[in-house]
Amino acid sequence: MENHDSATAFVILGASGDLAYRLLMPAIFRLYLAGRWSSPVIGYAPDDWDVAKFQDHVGEGLQQFVSEFSDESWGEFRTLLHYQAGELNPKDLSALKPFVGDGAAVFYLALPPALFGQAAEALHAAGLNRGADGVRRLVVEKPFGHSLATAEALREQLHQGWNEDQIYRIDHFLGKETAQNLLVFRLTNRFLASIWDAEHIRSVQITYAETLGLEGRWRYYDQAGALRDMLQNHLLQLFTLAAMDAPSVWSADALHNHKVEVLRAVRSISAENVEQHAVRGQYGPGAIKGAPVPGYLEEPHISPDSCTETFAALKLNVDNWRWHGVPFYLRSGKRMAHDYAEVAVQLKEVPRGLFGEGLRNWLIFRMKPDERIDMVVWAKEPGLTLKMRPRVLSTLYRREDEMEYSAYEQLLLAVLQGDRTPFPRYDEVEEAWRIVDPVLEAWTKGRPEAYAAGSEGPTGQERLMERGTSWRRLGDYGE
Ligand code: BG6
Repeated sequence: MENHDSATAFVILGASGDLAYRLLMPAIFRLYLAGRWSSPVIGYAPDDWDVAKFQDHVGEGLQQFVSEFSDESWGEFRTLLHYQAGELNPKDLSALKPFVGDGAAVFYLALPPALFGQAAEALHAAGLNRGADGVRRLVVEKPFGHSLATAEALREQLHQGWNEDQIYRIDHFLGKETAQNLLVFRLTNRFLASIWDAEHIRSVQITYAETLGLEGRWRYYDQAGALRDMLQNHLLQLFTLAAMDAPSVWSADALHNHKVEVLRAVRSISAENVEQHAVRGQYGPGAIKGAPVPGYLEEPHISPDSCTETFAALKLNVDNWRWHGVPFYLRSGKRMAHDYAEVAVQLKEVPRGLFGEGLRNWLIFRMKPDERIDMVVWAKEPGLTLKMRPRVLSTLYRREDEMEYSAYEQLLLAVLQGDRTPFPRYDEVEEAWRIVDPVLEAWTKGRPEAYAAGSEGPTGQERLMERGTSWRRLGDYGE
């Protein structure tokens, strides 16, 4: 469906900040260039700017981050941009009323997480949460809470003035092609439908490894750590898409109901068995692509005794019929050997191996370094002996001549169209916190295991694996 919803006002709170500058405005501009955006964008921030200053600021960013930038398209686009200066209180926010009238509007909280609740309440108190002639939506960035208890407190605060179906929680992984394809590929290909269960699948490994370190985000990251930053949201969402049952219709509520159901089936990790289900690591000095890099504790602003984990791994068991006995492994780390990410499904062997033991297939949804699906199959090595070797059937999702849309483009369009499918509902977030909370609690004591920057992560991660399996090597293409 084309979107030319010029009637919906798109308000960005925190419009002078980094998120708007680097991610939101470039995504909006690219949607505009693709003919998918015509809504007015109203920037709101405490900075005492006029509209020309805001437009110049946005233009500077677009020039830097959007390769298709041209003076001509920018000249047209800038007329969609408006600006209102103000603080996050009802009185100042009321100044937005002339921009939104009684019609449909989106309020995007591009703000530090500590301000989400205050902003939502102030919008409510200013009467901006309801429009006589159009729907009002609220977009909240991650992280949604810092624990189960704080997420619940934030939910309560938001729900004072906003219904759940007005709230769009961003998990940008759900805008990635791989996340979307995980479900589509599973649910449209007959040959997968019949093998997607414990009878055929041995284990699933979800890996998101980055060579990046802190990138100036120490203030946030040192409080968060890898478990909160990556697993509680992004990786558990990927897990959910891989493990959920098929909904009977394609609607946001049907989808979310099924996602929640599988999350609820994840066995709780108790304080006593955290060791068997979770591993944490922290990078020490090492080298990335041949260049030496400092360890986490030597990074600027980081206290030399910080216990923040920069690597986290979980082993999850799912207590339902489909997945009985199939472990799901999730891991993510900074300063790892490669930028490599995948959801890798390992199938069981055929019941009787005529041509050797341990010949298992893999189905791999790769996210990095490129987005593709690989299937590792076994075939006879050509020649005079009956010897097997793995071969990879592989396809990229996107042809070279096709446009690539960023996760933010996908998600912003979905917000504008009122499509709630790619936004986690609160009960999903709640379940995700239920799963990780006991681990976070256990990790308030002790220290993470050190691993060298540029390595595969802490050696302790292997203790999560069942006998006869190990973590896939980063960058393993299967042949
Ligand atoms: C963010 C995390 O949500 O996702 C970052 O806060 C991480 O630490 C990033 O680097 C990874 O996503 P992407 O899309 O940049 O690979």
